[in-house]
Amino acid sequence: MRSSSLTPTVRVWGGRIMSKSRAVKFALAFGFVSVTFAGSALAEGDIVAGEKLFLRKCFGCHVVPAGAVAKGPSLRGVVGRPVASVEGFAFSDGLKAFGATGAVWDEATLDKFLADIIGFVRGMRMTMMPISRDTDRADLIAYLKSNK
Ligand code: HEC
Repeated sequence: MRSSSLTPTVRVWGGRIMSKSRAVKFALAFGFVSVTFAGSALAEGDIVAGEKLFLRKCFGCHVVPAGAVAKGPSLRGVVGRPVASVEGFAFSDGLKAFGATGAVWDEATLDKFLADIIGFVRGMRMTMMPISRDTDRADLIAYLKSNK
């Protein structure tokens, strides 16, 4: 299935591969994750929920594998990446102008952008409804951050 190649995988001892979401559940079930980690994961957003949101809301136009271009540029490693910097993608003049200011897609910028997709960058060519729930944006950003 197409989405399976998208699922981030982690290698667990014994060379077993499982999806990150399963590995997290597995680790939680066996108590491998400390309370501090669980606490900060919550505050930072939930990667598993973020992946679901990504597949529902972004995957139609963006893919995560490096270099791949759909209607939008690949979002692999987007957290911390300079705006409009993907080689081979024809960004709009609006987004290029924003990138030329030295802007970077850090978490705060992504959060503001996703809350106000239409108004955040003048002349940007990405049309979709904003993500209005704070927790949804946090989950999405956590997922994007996990795709380095
Ligand atoms: C209708 C298609 C479409 C959908 C759906 C969509 N995008 Fe985009 N996205 C684009 C296009 C096209 C661009 C390039 C915009 C430009 O050049 O102005 C873009 C650009 C971006 C950028 C800037 C990338 C860069 O390298 O500067 C980010 C970040 C982004 N999208 C995140 C998202 C997220 C997160 C979602 C899901 C919540 C999403 N997009 C959904 C089409 C889409």
